[in-house]
Amino acid sequence: MLKITDLEVQIEGQPILKKFSLSMKPGEVHAIMGPNGAGKSTLAKVLAGHPEYEVTNGEVSFEGEDLLVLSPEERAQRGLFLSFQYPVEVPGLTNTQFLHSAYVACKGPISADDFATLLNDKMESMRIKSSFKTRNLNEGFSGGEKKKNELLQMAVLEPKLIILDEIDSGLDIDAMKDVAEGVKTLLDGKRSVLIVTHYQRLLDYIKPDYVHVAMDGKIVKTGDALLAQELEQAGYHVYQ
Ligand SMILES: Nc1ncnc2c1ncn2[C@@H]1O[C@H](COP(=O)(O)OP(=O)(O)OP(=O)(O)O)[C@@H](O)[C@H]1O
Ligand SMILES: [Mg+2]
Repeated sequence: MLKITDLEVQIEGQPILKKFSLSMKPGEVHAIMGPNGAGKSTLAKVLAGHPEYEVTNGEVSFEGEDLLVLSPEERAQRGLFLSFQYPVEVPGLTNTQFLHSAYVACKGPISADDFATLLNDKMESMRIKSSFKTRNLNEGFSGGEKKKNELLQMAVLEPKLIILDEIDSGLDIDAMKDVAEGVKTLLDGKRSVLIVTHYQRLLDYIKPDYVHVAMDGKIVKTGDALLAQELEQAGYHVYQ
């Protein structure tokens, strides 16, 4: 599904990712943990096609295709989805307008009525307030509501590769379960999920096949779900 080989990324001449490599097969759930500033969000944004980051070396293939030559829109159309660590507020654009446009751009035409039915179903199953439909995208949303709204986008777009950048930060206990359930409903043995998190708690709900420790721009250790528990106990200093 995804193969990242020796990826090197700079911002303003400053190296951030340093020979970062990772392989994910269809249906696998991978978690990346690591200290602040390790480059986790940088990786997520580079995969989504953020223009600020300069890829100086390495390769990324998504279902056998060179991902790095594709525009962010093309990547989304191929089925790549990123939930942002810091979701952006967009005044003047309602959530429904945004989700409908995103759906049409990624999956093709759908009537307003059919989309309304689809959106209602998704929102009900994720226990999202119906007022989210008419409010402007993320404007005035609480931190946890923004994260839930990212997950609503995921549920609507049904992507093949889901990247969740700290989806659990700011979520209350019940919201965390709702989010985990929302992700789990999409786990069909074919979709892959890359979870960036600081806490083992989310991984109790969504069990990862692999846990990676990222430090200073690369993966320094890979293990199974137990590694997340060890990290919780021991911290990152053993890898420094
Ligand atoms: N646009 C930018 N301009 C300058 N520096 C940046 C930019 N984006 C990232 N960096 C730097 O790159 C490094 C990695 O940042 P990144 O956001 O990827 O870390 P992270 O692993 O996601 O950390 P956290 O756990 O705090 O979210 C940091 O030192 C950060 O300051
Ligand atoms: Mg981050």
